[in-house]
Amino acid sequence: MPRIVRTVAGTLAAVLLTGLAASPSAADVLPYLDPSLPVADRVTDLLGRMTPDDKTGQLVQGERATAGPADVTSLRLGSVLSGGGSAPTPNTPAAWADMYDSYQRAALATPLKIPMLYGIDAVHGNNNVAGATIFPHNVGLGATRDPALVQRVGQITAQEVTAAGQDWTFAPCVCVARDDRWGRTYESFGETPELVSSMTTIVTGLQDEGVLATAKHYLGDGGTTNGVDQGDTQLTEAQLRAIHLPPFRAAVERGAGSIMISFNSVGGQKMTANRHLIIDVLKGELGFTGFTVSDWAAVDQLDGRPGFTAAEVADAVNAGLDMLMVPEDVSRFVGYLRAGVQSGQIPMSRVDDANRRILTKKFELGLFEHPYADRSGIAQIGSAEHRAVARQAVRESQVLLKNDGILPLAPSAKIFVAGKSADDLGNQSGGWTMSWQGASGATISGTSILAGLRAAASSVTYSRDGSGIDGSYTAAIAVVGETPYAEGKGDRSTLPGLDADDRAVLSRLRAAGVPVITVLVSGRPLDVAADLPGWNALLAAWLPGSEGAGVADVLLGAYAPTGKLPVTWPQSAGQEPINDGDGKTPLFPYGHGLTFTTNDPDPTPSTSTTPSPSPSTSPSPVPAGCRVAYSTSDWSTGFTGTVGVTNTGATAIPSWKLTWTWPAAQTVTQSWSARVTQSGATVTAVGETWNAGLAPGATLSFGFNATHSGANPRPAAFALNGTPCTT
Ligand code: GLC
Repeated sequence: MPRIVRTVAGTLAAVLLTGLAASPSAADVLPYLDPSLPVADRVTDLLGRMTPDDKTGQLVQGERATAGPADVTSLRLGSVLSGGGSAPTPNTPAAWADMYDSYQRAALATPLKIPMLYGIDAVHGNNNVAGATIFPHNVGLGATRDPALVQRVGQITAQEVTAAGQDWTFAPCVCVARDDRWGRTYESFGETPELVSSMTTIVTGLQDEGVLATAKHYLGDGGTTNGVDQGDTQLTEAQLRAIHLPPFRAAVERGAGSIMISFNSVGGQKMTANRHLIIDVLKGELGFTGFTVSDWAAVDQLDGRPGFTAAEVADAVNAGLDMLMVPEDVSRFVGYLRAGVQSGQIPMSRVDDANRRILTKKFELGLFEHPYADRSGIAQIGSAEHRAVARQAVRESQVLLKNDGILPLAPSAKIFVAGKSADDLGNQSGGWTMSWQGASGATISGTSILAGLRAAASSVTYSRDGSGIDGSYTAAIAVVGETPYAEGKGDRSTLPGLDADDRAVLSRLRAAGVPVITVLVSGRPLDVAADLPGWNALLAAWLPGSEGAGVADVLLGAYAPTGKLPVTWPQSAGQEPINDGDGKTPLFPYGHGLTFTTNDPDPTPSTSTTPSPSPSTSPSPVPAGCRVAYSTSDWSTGFTGTVGVTNTGATAIPSWKLTWTWPAAQTVTQSWSARVTQSGATVTAVGETWNAGLAPGATLSFGFNATHSGANPRPAAFALNGTPCTT
């Protein structure tokens, strides 16, 4: 049951908590404790009752390992967090809820009984809590191009967060990953602001279920030079606004309650002290009315020396930080904050603004009426229903990059499975899973990719290193790629390829002379161009999480792949950074993704003398017919369009061209899996070299982003090479 459901019982409980009479009349209830009053009035009343110590304490978040319940009471802390893997013992939902309640009781033991917020990195499910449903990391969710599904992921994540007692998640990362060497690429929905903006539906999903969301990390975390985590984003403000700001605008428009300020610098200035981008742009121009929170001990980094100083504390708060994440030495931090206010270095008006923002969210969450964990949903944690949604997310996140026709495998096929990540729930979940860095091995409950194959196919032989393979198998599946990492520990000076173990497995499989299907479990594209010719198929599985059966569903044809690359896949490590529209020729372009009706010839340069049909050649003879499926995912100023084109005729179309006319002021800004151009209101889409043709009965899909000026009516008609299509 979401917290934001006020009840009479809850009100009475709240009133009793203040030590008022057991049978209060309306006159006895203090205004800030009266849920019938507007939140703004309750905040004003409470602020008027708070001492400077109450106010300064509200701005500080301690970490559970270094700040106990007694510190919450004595320092009047506004919040507590669990860093990655910082869990109670035993790690059970009930123990999490008990821990939450112990901190909450401590907060309610302060004079004004202001409840605390408990923050956690539930970034792909409630991934610190044993038994939770673990969803694909964001890079896979971006590949789905399915904002509605991602909203559902947010709802389920929130349900499993609430059931364990917490009320605030430091998610989603709305970072725009521009360099795949960055260790946090997998935390990004993709490399374009449009794709990332479209996935802010997860904010709605989280907050509709009563959990405070955090859009992070503001601003430019995915744009640092060479992808160095916490590095310097050397972009002009115009470039920042074009690439990295739109997802925050979308998140603010969706009512994101908090925004985490990023470790990185912009033009050499640490974001944690960037008053212009925080106060002028985020709070002013974007109108963000929630509260900002610093990253883990980010204040300590301001002067370049270890630890924090009174000056750094003042600089951060005066730059617009509302809540400070203080994992060490929280008492000294509160002391500096109090001193800064007393000395006037930190204006009380700034402290009041921060309190107003924080308290507004606490009232909106219903914490004053329902301060304690709502355990009614504990049975839903890791439920079959939740896992089924996660499995669908895994299916839709799979990107089929190459297929010579070997896929899908028949369930009756004789299948050999190898590779370090075939039967490894830890590898398939990646970082931020039960611990900060994640780990290989059986770290969570779930279904490995191998288990998914075994459940659906009649003959599956598994050998981690590939030994025992012979020519009798229909095909060999090698599940290889990366082992878990998080943040800077995942930074690479050059884009990695496959490690020696993976190569040895693949060599062994290829030597057997059977078709080889490579499944990459990784947080980013890998440098595999040289290996690709030896593979019959390549599937990017990303980091699917607990429901590995979703990968098996694609391999065995239970689900025809629909995933599209959320990031450009380079031909070589030296191409990084490589992004859509930068003029470089990738191995697979942003938006690339096959399904089972079109096989992709090997994309390495053709040696044939006859050039592949150029999209610009004149269209082929008129086809017998066509059908178009058209859908959009809209936001306030733009939308993502997805188009499916089916050749319903009996003749092949060597080079297709789809046209339509915009009924309103829509303008295409970019496209994938097709070349979409616009002249006036007329839009023309033609295939890329690798999908220029359309066989009889075949369907291809492509996508585009576009702006609109408030309305987004769908085109009235489509024509394929001049022939009107049915829709
Ligand atoms: C980490 C990350 C941030 C996370 C925070 C709390 O350093 O940068 O994404 O929310 O600390 O764990």
